[in-house]
Amino acid sequence: MKIFVTDQNGLKHELEAIAGWRVMEIIREHGLPIKAECGGSCACATCHVYVDEAWMNKIPHMREDEEEMLDEAFNHEDTSRLSCQIIMDEELDGLCVTLAENV
Ligand code: FES
Repeated sequence: MKIFVTDQNGLKHELEAIAGWRVMEIIREHGLPIKAECGGSCACATCHVYVDEAWMNKIPHMREDEEEMLDEAFNHEDTSRLSCQIIMDEELDGLCVTLAENV
């Protein structure tokens, strides 16, 4: 299983992904620049990513707390998500995201 992550310099990385892990944890484990300051508690927005359009309706909808956190996030877009709130599973094999500037 894999995910594709574009970093802040526009470089695309192919990362090995494990079902049950948060997308944020996968990105962090591979050493890409993501602060994820709150460790996945939906309380910091420093795991902000933009989800590739093609994946927007395949990932589970966000809960209210994620939406509220993102509303206050810098450079918030329609495709914004908190990567700590996306749990990897078979359906998401091949997921493409881009790291936001301030993560
Ligand atoms: S790691 Fe803090 S909101 Fe995702």
